[in-house]
Amino acid sequence: MSLELAMISPHTPRICHEDKIPEFQRPMVEAMRKTAEIIEQVEADVMVLVSCHWMSSFEHYVDAGARHTGVLTAVECPDLISDVPYDYPGHPELAQQLVAAGKAQGLPIVGIDDPSYIWDYGTVVPLRYLLPRRKIPVVDLSVCWAASLAETQEWGRVIGQVLRESTLRTVFVASGALAHNLRRGAHNWPNRTEQALDKEFCQRLVEGDLEAAGEMLPSYARAATLEAGGRHVAMLLGVLQGKYKGVLHGYGPSSGSGNPVLTLHPVA
Ligand SMILES: [Fe+2]
Repeated sequence: MSLELAMISPHTPRICHEDKIPEFQRPMVEAMRKTAEIIEQVEADVMVLVSCHWMSSFEHYVDAGARHTGVLTAVECPDLISDVPYDYPGHPELAQQLVAAGKAQGLPIVGIDDPSYIWDYGTVVPLRYLLPRRKIPVVDLSVCWAASLAETQEWGRVIGQVLRESTLRTVFVASGALAHNLRRGAHNWPNRTEQALDKEFCQRLVEGDLEAAGEMLPSYARAATLEAGGRHVAMLLGVLQGKYKGVLHGYGPSSGSGNPVLTLHPVA
């Protein structure tokens, strides 16, 4: 067992700069800081992160670069995320293992190694809180819009198998919101129905009832308009083969979206 931890993390743009976090999102950021301590405690060697903002059309991409460095100004919100430098090691060997394992299953997986590729904010923002000190290597993954939830979950299953068989101590992060019926007004929460569905889904994860969570996902993804159509959580469910228990550390709003900070821990 070398998948030491999995989690769902927010990446809302207003939390990018520590000194500009709005009051209503501070508890969510505090929860992210708590999970940073957990990541340190499990002594992870590498983090594999799927970002809802690395949206690929037809292929599932794996960033296999040896070094991820750049300066991010977010296309979607350059007023909120501007001139943000980042620098993290990559893990080409693990990335290529993921690519090979996915291809062996007949999935359209493509590894990229391009120093001119600039990370998206769904990748950069959570890392600022989840890896505040020790910058362990990161392997970044896209969400593929041509892929169904089932295909994405199958890709997750392949990823999970590679991580469990690895000698590295690994952490898997699904970066994204749950309910994502966006509207103007950053302080807005999802509506009551969407919050109830988010709560129910999180509770299934906390209890480790992955079968029930998987059964919920297709209709829940439509009803609560999940971010990326729920693909990041489909991938997470695929990764989590075996017994896990979860902890919901926080749940915050951003323009009508619901953003859990939820960790999943393997049960011996
Ligand atoms: Fe997002």
